[in-house]
Amino acid sequence: MEYKLRKAEPRDVPDILRLVKELAKYEDMENQVRLTEQDLLEDGFGDTPFYHCVIAELQNQDASEDVKVMGFAMYYFTYDPWVGKQLYLEDFYITQEYRGLGIGSHIMRHLSDLAMKTRCSGMMFVVAENNESSIQFYKRRGAEDLSQEEGWRLYRFDKDSLVKMATPPEE
Ligand code: ACO
Repeated sequence: MEYKLRKAEPRDVPDILRLVKELAKYEDMENQVRLTEQDLLEDGFGDTPFYHCVIAELQNQDASEDVKVMGFAMYYFTYDPWVGKQLYLEDFYITQEYRGLGIGSHIMRHLSDLAMKTRCSGMMFVVAENNESSIQFYKRRGAEDLSQEEGWRLYRFDKDSLVKMATPPEE
């Protein structure tokens, strides 16, 4: 099996959305995915990209097989006022039949290289507490559980809360 990692391009948007949905399904939250291909195209490939993706793509494949992209990582840069630039790993997924072959580790190496090149001081991510196999995958590579070790809690304002706080539209 030959594959390569490459930076996602606009033509990859349908595959990115397919993999985003597969990961959401894996996490039993498939019906939470509201994004469309158009959103992903505008948000990732416009003047200000809000995310980046590295994708894993099969090479030298039989022409009858149409799915070539079988894994991806979506990430972006954040800023921590104590330590500076950070990579944020948002989504990380390899299609089931290609797991356990080292592709995920290759993507982690790629992201670590990128973090070194851009002088990031760390890589943050959130993982569901019942996703034990991926928690172990991260821990074996040195990840620390900040909610346990430092007591941070993850919060969100949803859109309704934001609308209530925002300046009301003029009559
Ligand atoms: N499936 C998964 N892992 C396996 C399997 C298998 N069938 N067989 C063996 N493993 C072991 C490997 O030996 C390896 O062990 P190591 O940590 O000691 O190296 C590890 O599990 C998998 O390593 P890789 O092959 O390099 O990684 P993989 O290509 O499987 O990608 C990933 C890892 C992305 C976690 C993948 O397993 C996956 O997609 N899991 C389901 C979705 C998921 O949980 N994603 C992460 C969510 S958290 C977030 O997105 C921030």
